[in-house]
Amino acid sequence: MTIKTSIFMLLLLFAPVSSFAVDNKDERALRQKGEELFNQNCAKCHGEKGVGTKEGPPLVHKIYHPNHHADLSFRWAIERGVRSHHWGFGDMPKIDGVKPDEAESIIKYVRGIQKEAGIF
Ligand code: HEC
Repeated sequence: MTIKTSIFMLLLLFAPVSSFAVDNKDERALRQKGEELFNQNCAKCHGEKGVGTKEGPPLVHKIYHPNHHADLSFRWAIERGVRSHHWGFGDMPKIDGVKPDEAESIIKYVRGIQKEAGIF
């Protein structure tokens, strides 16, 4: 094998690994942004880390498994609010000031903590 080919082979070996690392970093940044936004806009009722408060239900709960409440239900909850149907906490008001891309990072964060809790 010439030096050129071996360098080429090495590059092939490492290229996927390094792009994976970049993805992971983006993912982490997105999730961290999601956590901050969640704490600012949602934790008042849904509790820090989504465990619930006396104002609102836990989101780390099997009811909010992605198959029961897809990401769309999170977008709608933020944009339109929620009429109480699962619990006795009353309605959720729509949350002003959370932009669509911010909603995506909040969803990413909530899915992450749900996954860690073994919800899915
Ligand atoms: C003022 C309190 C309050 C705040 C703030 C709040 N929620 Fe809620 N949320 C509730 C309550 C209460 C319910 C339960 C309604 C019910 O009985 O089904 C709920 C339900 C939900 C649901 C379930 C929707 C469905 O279709 O059943 C989602 C998803 C949700 N909230 C996400 C969020 C997110 C994300 C934020 C922050 C951007 C947020 N909530 C902020 C009170 C709140």
